[in-house]
Amino acid sequence: MSLPIVRTVAELRAQVSAWRRDGLTVGLTPTMGALHPGHLSLVRLAKARADKVVATLFVNPTQFGENEDLDAYPRDEGQDAELLSKEGCDLLFAPSVGEMYPPDFSTSVRVSGLSDVLCGAHREGHFDGVAQVVAKLLNQAQADIAVFGEKDWQQLAIIRRMARDLDIPTKIVGAPIIREDDGLAMSSRNRYLSPEERAIAPELNRALRTAADRIASGALVAEALAQAERHVLDAGFERVDYVDARHAETLDVVRQNPPAGPGRVFGAAVLGKARLIDNVPIPETQASPEAP
Ligand code: PAF
Repeated sequence: MSLPIVRTVAELRAQVSAWRRDGLTVGLTPTMGALHPGHLSLVRLAKARADKVVATLFVNPTQFGENEDLDAYPRDEGQDAELLSKEGCDLLFAPSVGEMYPPDFSTSVRVSGLSDVLCGAHREGHFDGVAQVVAKLLNQAQADIAVFGEKDWQQLAIIRRMARDLDIPTKIVGAPIIREDDGLAMSSRNRYLSPEERAIAPELNRALRTAADRIASGALVAEALAQAERHVLDAGFERVDYVDARHAETLDVVRQNPPAGPGRVFGAAVLGKARLIDNVPIPETQASPEAP
């Protein structure tokens, strides 16, 4: 059976209400389409935790900067719907820009602090657009849970904080990063890579993992990060936006070793037409204050 697609908030709410009347729980997986196995893992996780799963497909213009790839962003609703259907998704919500943002739309959502660092420092307004659209999607669907990928760890931290601050009752669930065999985190933007760039791309993950391991073995944090940045540039990336170690929840910088609390190493770097991001945990060591 082909996947039912609705395009209005009224239709979405009618279906979710009908499921609720039958005593069923609902999971939401927001996406911008161009689905890959990483997205499908979000659907699987939502299916494991809820009776019905709604995926959303909306290339949100408010989270793209002026010189970013909004127009070029890959779009193929037919193929996305087929993939979602095979995964057992129950409904696709694919609204138009007009349905989401009527001409007199005037509300912004800003999660201060968390939105200003890492990618936020390089993509002005990006996380305001993400917070705005996710607040809308959560309110529109009123699902029990919503699943977001940990590849966009900063986005996930921002969404969790926003849901808490605005008392949005949907539980926010993080899903593990899905990687290619060589470690490259799956992303819709990987399709921008030429074969030569594709061979270089996993070096970002290798550099971050090496830095995380070095920090766990007691290296100076700044030195481990500088080495990782050199690794990425030497591999052939054109630009490194950042390689940084941060607290997993607060995103505060980690400079002391051992880090106080759970830490992660984050990186963003440009390779050809693609800006790749990734993040890895800093393994806990016996020396860590959090270790038993
Ligand atoms: O991660 C994404 O694909 C998008 O940022 C999201 C969460 C669907 C909001 O547009």
